[in-house]
Amino acid sequence: MIAQLWASFPFLAGRLLISESVLLLQFATDLACCLPTSMRLASTLRQSRETLSTQDKERHKSYGYQRAQTPEGVLTSLIPPMQFPHTERRKQKASAMSQEHDMDSLHVTKRQLKLLKTSPLVIQNKNSGFSNSSVFAASSSLSVSPLDSFSSSSGSALQGSWKFFSILEARKQLMKEICAKYKGSISKIITRSHVKHLYVEDKHKLLYCQVPKTGCSNWKRTLMVLAGKASNVQNIQHDTVHYGGHLKKLESFSQKEIMHRLETYKKFVFVREPFERIVSAYRDKLENPNDYYHNLFGKPIISKYRLNPSEEALRTGSGVMFKEFIQYLLDVHRPVGMDIHWDQVNQLCHPCLIHYDFIGKFENMGEESNFLLRLIGAPLSLTLPTFKDRNPGDERTSLEITKKYFSQLSMLERQRLYDFYYMDYLMFNYSKPFKDLY
Ligand SMILES: *[C@@H]1O[C@H](CO)[C@@H](O)[C@H](O)[C@H]1NC(C)=O
Ligand SMILES: *[C@@H]1O[C@H](CO)[C@@H](O)[C@H](O)[C@H]1NC(C)=O
Repeated sequence: MIAQLWASFPFLAGRLLISESVLLLQFATDLACCLPTSMRLASTLRQSRETLSTQDKERHKSYGYQRAQTPEGVLTSLIPPMQFPHTERRKQKASAMSQEHDMDSLHVTKRQLKLLKTSPLVIQNKNSGFSNSSVFAASSSLSVSPLDSFSSSSGSALQGSWKFFSILEARKQLMKEICAKYKGSISKIITRSHVKHLYVEDKHKLLYCQVPKTGCSNWKRTLMVLAGKASNVQNIQHDTVHYGGHLKKLESFSQKEIMHRLETYKKFVFVREPFERIVSAYRDKLENPNDYYHNLFGKPIISKYRLNPSEEALRTGSGVMFKEFIQYLLDVHRPVGMDIHWDQVNQLCHPCLIHYDFIGKFENMGEESNFLLRLIGAPLSLTLPTFKDRNPGDERTSLEITKKYFSQLSMLERQRLYDFYYMDYLMFNYSKPFKDLY
């Protein structure tokens, strides 16, 4: 599985100079296979949900795939089905392996352990020639602990690259499993509308799926620097990032060029705990001043869900309550369409159709982003910035804040909202946010 990740980043694979390479590589494979301890856990969980899967499909029929009433299909033209020959083959092999192989691969000899601890990997960096970068030094820790601490420190944090390799592989593996399970309800043809949130960076051959509220402004700044559109990430204004037109969207290319990039570029996405993401979206777009959103969404929401709205509330669309926002989200007959800030990630980025090489998590944004930057051979001086563009005075939406907002909802509303984002919870392995959800 490690080999797969390197296959995804081929320039790395060829440049890995490892002492006693055979053993270490052997270990790499073993380490990757150790992972499923946690994956097994996930699959047990999923099995207990097995009975729910038909229900899930119903849920999607009723409101999961409720789309915005925007003329989305206008640009849509059919692109022939994509062929992923090796992905397909790998998928079969991998799932067969992950079932049986993990039992005996858990044996890690003391010698292997010692070797891992004492042999740093030496990587030839693409851009800066040889560098005995400690960035890729093998982790001295074997624990595959969940990545839940938010850390933006870049240097030392990258020590655990073994850990990262295996965690990233596990995420991709889980995605494959979920996609295989739900393949009946997933389109097999990539259309232009499937790639409309993908941004292109041709120099490093990258495709980034933008998910709002998961640090996308900072990633777009970084892409601008990678593309040579800016000299550093520090002084790029929010508006320049989003409206400057410096980054090309994949949908703006010809069909042939889209296909070529999808097949040969590294594709990545960052995701976030779904409930935290919508609380963050609500605070940003509806709670805080925002004429555009208050007009477009606030007005219809207030007029449909508030019992005795004041003249002023109806006129300005300001003051939408969290509960009203959720009523709108859960309404099959929404008075206004969905929006990218609260759309499900699987609807924005189509991870079953577009096979992402890297699925990062907002909860560990700094560490994972910088790990990715090193993987693609970005200049060592480039790290992801940590700007908070929107309402910088506000505290970042945290678990605590999320709980506060959710306490305003009924249990049924929470359950329905969980159902609404269920595929995101499943695909990106976020655990149930409240104990009383099923
Ligand atoms: C899923 O998350 C749990 C903890 O939340 C973690 O232990 C496990 O390794 C994760 N599984 C995958 C496949 O990422
Ligand atoms: C990398 O390390 C090796 C051995 O420790 C040394 O011989 C070599 O000069 C180093 N290369 C650089 C670029 O520091």
